[in-house]
Amino acid sequence: MRRVLYPGSFDPVTLGHMDIIARASRAFEQVVVGVLHNPNKPSGMLPVEERLSLLRLAVRAYDHIEVASFSGLLMDAVRAAGADGVVRGLRGVEDVPDELQMARLNRQLGGVETVFLAASPGIAHISSARVREIARFGGAVDALVPEAARDQIVQALRRYRE
Ligand code: PNS
Repeated sequence: MRRVLYPGSFDPVTLGHMDIIARASRAFEQVVVGVLHNPNKPSGMLPVEERLSLLRLAVRAYDHIEVASFSGLLMDAVRAAGADGVVRGLRGVEDVPDELQMARLNRQLGGVETVFLAASPGIAHISSARVREIARFGGAVDALVPEAARDQIVQALRRYRE
């Protein structure tokens, strides 16, 4: 695999995502970070455009990483991105059942292979859902999100908190 899609909700991007992005960028020639969404059923906290601009800030130091949004199925997004496969991070055993199911379905129905990277232990407890929860109750999320986009993420979470 040379060009891979790293898909997710990225609502918002966290240090957990950055760990996978950094390591995928060393393992593959090109990485497309894809915000997947369903335009008919908007969900999450931040609007997709906001997630994209925060991601672009977060990855600005890399020169072979693209950021884009895709709607619909992951297997179709892989094709739209011109990618050879998918990269996903595994934070722990609790991620495995869902991830295996997705990977197997994407392979069976779309011929798409998934490569898993084991999250680094120091950040494996971080998730976007917890970041949103902490921000919603006024807690500090500075230590959980990428420095290059820290101020903008804190402001965005504050703006869309209600
Ligand atoms: O960051 P997340 O929320 O863990 O990302 C999950 C995501 C967006 C990668 C997953 O829900 C997904 O692939 N959604 C697209 C719809 C799809 O293809 N569903 C069937 C998978 S077999």
